[in-house]
Amino acid sequence: MTASRRTFAIISHPDAGKTTLTEKLLLQGGAIHLAGQVKARGQARRARSDWMKIEQQRGISVTSSVMTFERTDADGNTITFNLLDTPGHEDFSEDTYRTLTAVDSAIMVIDAAKGIEPQTRKLFEVCRLRSVPIITFVNKVDREGRACFDLLDEVADVLALDVCPMSWPVGMGGLFQGILDLKSGRVSRPEGGSKEFLGKVDEDVELPGEVAEEIELARAGYPEFDIEAYRGGDLTPVFFGSALKNFGVVELIDAIAKFAPPPRPQPTEAGPVDPGHKEVTGFIFKVQANMDPMHRDRIAFMRLVSGTFKRGMKLTPSGLGKPIAVHSPILFFAQDREIADSAEPGDIIGIPNHGTLRVGDTLSEKNQIRFTGLPNFAPEILRRVALKDPTKTKQLRKALDDLSEEGVIQVFYPEIGSQWIVGVVGQLQLDVLISRLEAEYKVEAMLEASPFDTARWIKGSDKALRDFADFNKMNLAKDRDGDPVFMAKSAWDVGYQQERNPDLTFSATKER
Ligand code: G4P
Repeated sequence: MTASRRTFAIISHPDAGKTTLTEKLLLQGGAIHLAGQVKARGQARRARSDWMKIEQQRGISVTSSVMTFERTDADGNTITFNLLDTPGHEDFSEDTYRTLTAVDSAIMVIDAAKGIEPQTRKLFEVCRLRSVPIITFVNKVDREGRACFDLLDEVADVLALDVCPMSWPVGMGGLFQGILDLKSGRVSRPEGGSKEFLGKVDEDVELPGEVAEEIELARAGYPEFDIEAYRGGDLTPVFFGSALKNFGVVELIDAIAKFAPPPRPQPTEAGPVDPGHKEVTGFIFKVQANMDPMHRDRIAFMRLVSGTFKRGMKLTPSGLGKPIAVHSPILFFAQDREIADSAEPGDIIGIPNHGTLRVGDTLSEKNQIRFTGLPNFAPEILRRVALKDPTKTKQLRKALDDLSEEGVIQVFYPEIGSQWIVGVVGQLQLDVLISRLEAEYKVEAMLEASPFDTARWIKGSDKALRDFADFNKMNLAKDRDGDPVFMAKSAWDVGYQQERNPDLTFSATKER
């Protein structure tokens, strides 16, 4: 069963065509019948919640979801694809990073006219950290774009990856005539939306002179596709196509089915857990507040790592210590949310809960396993939270704890003074914070400049921590879990303290 799962994400810079490609992938999988439904569903969902007004106003998607679809290949093998949507907006990188911990591979979408853009690169770096293999899709070849060699060189140079073109556009923009499969030599044509094979290049297709030359060069100039190098994250196969015109999309799905790795073992401190391990285990990579602001329930997204999950099963979250029964898990089929009866490694399960499940939690039957690798990132923006009505302190504390559990913000409680500090990776998270404080907790708060610029988790022996605290009380805080954090005035400050305190580590990420 596990061999038939492909759990992946699409990474791209905004506007490269991720939404369009997602729609087309789902269409191919028969999961939705009308293109445009991904967005339409999003809008219906947004209307349900107050805080999501921000999404509407800014026309971006803050929430991310999971889409499952199936496809049977020419040999009759059915593959289940789990596509994890990563929010495209640059502000929401932390959320996106975490989602990438739950996939086995990724598709990188590049706009043929633009090449590698900043967000593509950032997301790629996260994939590289975890050796997530990447298939590249150069999109929008129906429009005038940059030369293919140029784009391939850029991927190779900027990302330090071997590239292997799998297909080649025959002309671009107005001259676009179809796509050549470099291996088989067949050209598929976009006419009438369906494709037609013109035969072997060398035999019956007359390619324009330059194109034929280009293709000869392409065939000679790049290494053969090597699946091991791809799966190790060292080589990316590159496909050309047009999401809008639904061109090259089938080839892309086929490539995921054929080359992308099935569910991988996941790391724990005691060594990796294999998908074949009998015990049901998984980890929470995302928590999302329910759409209804009147109810505080949340959906925790768990990636199943091992075992066959059955509805009603009792699992113990590492953060809680006592088992919970998972009675109404949700599987995310694209058309609807369906109640899951069972799930296999690689699948994502939504678990409704009232705040007991947190990002980074491991769930397991025996409560002996802890997955690692789901970091909190040092916030890039810090703000002091001030209340308009000082009698609401308790509500504020509860709200900040809740929202930090969800991963919307991070919260720091300074050792000295009563003003709490929130940290975010992107500005937009602050708007979400204010809006949700008002809508869900009836707390009116203001965000003020913070005396600190960045934060680092500190680790060391009790004595080293105590000695440090004696001199730096003003700069110490506790995070939501009570772990010590050094609040720094600048990055320079961090370096300075690290040098003076070699017994302590100052870390920009924290793993739970
Ligand atoms: P994103 O999720 O990565 O942000 O991108 P999205 O799919 O929303 O696509 C961004 C724009 O690029 C859209 O145009 C979309 O229609 C266009 N696009 C996507 N794929 C292709 C392609 O293969 N060829 C061409 N020519 N265009 C493509 P828009 O005008 O901004 O939005 P819309 O009004 O068309 O939805």
